[in-house]
Amino acid sequence: MKSFYLTTPIYYVNDAPHIGHAYTTVAGDVLTRWHRQRGESVWFLTGTDEHGQKVMRTAEANGVAPQAWADKLVEEAWKPNWEALNIANDDFIRTTEPRHMDRVQTFLTSLKDAGFIYQGDFEGPYCVGCEEFKLPGDLLEGNLCPIHSKPVENVKETNWFFKLSEFAQPLLAHYKNDPEACQPESARNEVVAFLESGLRDLSISRSTFDWGIPVPWDTDQVVYVWFDALLNYATAVGLTDDPSSEGGKKFAETWPADVHLVGKDILRFHAVIWPAMLMAAGVAIPKKVFAHGWLLVGGEKMSKSKLTGIAPADITDHFGVDAFRYYFLRAIPFGSDGSFSWEDMSARYTSELANDFGNLASRLAAMVEKYCGGVLPAVAQDKELSTSLQETVAKADAAMVALDFQGGINAIMDFCKQVNGFVTIKEPWILAKDPANQQVLEDVLYNTAESLRALAILLHPVMPGTTEILWESLGAKTVLGELASQKISEVATWGQLPKGATVTKTPVLFPRLEVKE
Ligand code: ME8
Ligand code: MG
Repeated sequence: MKSFYLTTPIYYVNDAPHIGHAYTTVAGDVLTRWHRQRGESVWFLTGTDEHGQKVMRTAEANGVAPQAWADKLVEEAWKPNWEALNIANDDFIRTTEPRHMDRVQTFLTSLKDAGFIYQGDFEGPYCVGCEEFKLPGDLLEGNLCPIHSKPVENVKETNWFFKLSEFAQPLLAHYKNDPEACQPESARNEVVAFLESGLRDLSISRSTFDWGIPVPWDTDQVVYVWFDALLNYATAVGLTDDPSSEGGKKFAETWPADVHLVGKDILRFHAVIWPAMLMAAGVAIPKKVFAHGWLLVGGEKMSKSKLTGIAPADITDHFGVDAFRYYFLRAIPFGSDGSFSWEDMSARYTSELANDFGNLASRLAAMVEKYCGGVLPAVAQDKELSTSLQETVAKADAAMVALDFQGGINAIMDFCKQVNGFVTIKEPWILAKDPANQQVLEDVLYNTAESLRALAILLHPVMPGTTEILWESLGAKTVLGELASQKISEVATWGQLPKGATVTKTPVLFPRLEVKE
């Protein structure tokens, strides 16, 4: 069976992660968890981009060898960061691993054998921050890179070129035939316009430094870092391996990738250079490149090089991991830029997570304990709630698989609001005052519990830790099994919690925020 294969960019190890990197990786984690709960086989890859001048110079500035620098950042910063954010990636690729370097060399040799690589002279501006050859028209006054606001360097070398120019027409045809292949629409329009202006061949090797993968037939040169890095998506799953080998089988199960999730800063690399490389090699091209917007600070892209990066821990220490995972996907339409604001996050935390969701869960547990001895008293089905749940699931599923995280989360949280309204109107605390209402009271509590069961499942991809606590509280694990194995397609089947399930009070899901000095 073909897996749903999703990748994040592999991030440069010139510094520790900030919330921009976490934004992409959390989005990938939410989407892959959602697809797993759809019952699909999933493969989720992230990793690190370790070659090139940017990383080499940072290591030099810190007085260590590039490999030692990369090792330290990967082990002490990147991997622990993803663990702390509860990222369930299946693999982590580093471009300095032999499994990657060997396959890059094999792939490059095959492109040369197929006639797509030639030697030539290169001269032009290069931004080490972007690791990109620039066109004079790309630059700001004073020869500044528009992304890094730093002067570009002039590169003049003899090196190896890839016949990128041959692929402008095939790529244009591809994006016109398959609008899904590059999303959102603004990104596709940008790529189409860029392709319509024509492509230049690409210098894919460098000779003036040695921190990279040697060009197999000319070992005085190293492979251009982007050519090396883009290949990670395919080398990690066995590109170039014999079809009967383990790598070859993995490749057949995963390739082509379903979604390459990237920020819009690196759209062209992914939507132009990468598919052209694959076309030249006769390998299937990815089904979708999705370029999301930027987290901004003072109106500019948050970045390591401009020292505007906020560490994820600065936010999770205060709000918790799940609120972090929730907030950015809920607050910013995926594809648009957005600014982080402490005030907005505090407001949403309190109203949406603590009040709407967390309180509902603790009220239910408290009432079942108080009025029914901690045991679900009866099975009942409220027509309105159960119908609305069906609509919610359909809407959330359609939005999530289209990477409309905001739409998906809103659909789920609207249902949560509706359940709150249900409890408010039914007033179980008033019903409890008269034993004649016992049956009605029990029905209200059951319908609320069932709604919370559904909310736990639907919100699990977004907030895996908190929803596990809720799952415990509902006594669902013993009767329904692991939360992560609950299927989206079955969420709306009403009446899954049995009569007699034990409901227990747990620590509140979203504690009151401490006042920040
Ligand atoms: O470009 N807002 O790595 P990188 C949103 N190594 N997302 C942001 C962001 C921001 N302010 N800042 C960073 C590279 N990102 C290459 C990629 S892939 C074959 C090689 C996220 O460390 C976003 O996903 O500069 C962006 O595309 C990526 O981090 C760039 O990370
Ligand atoms: Mg960058």
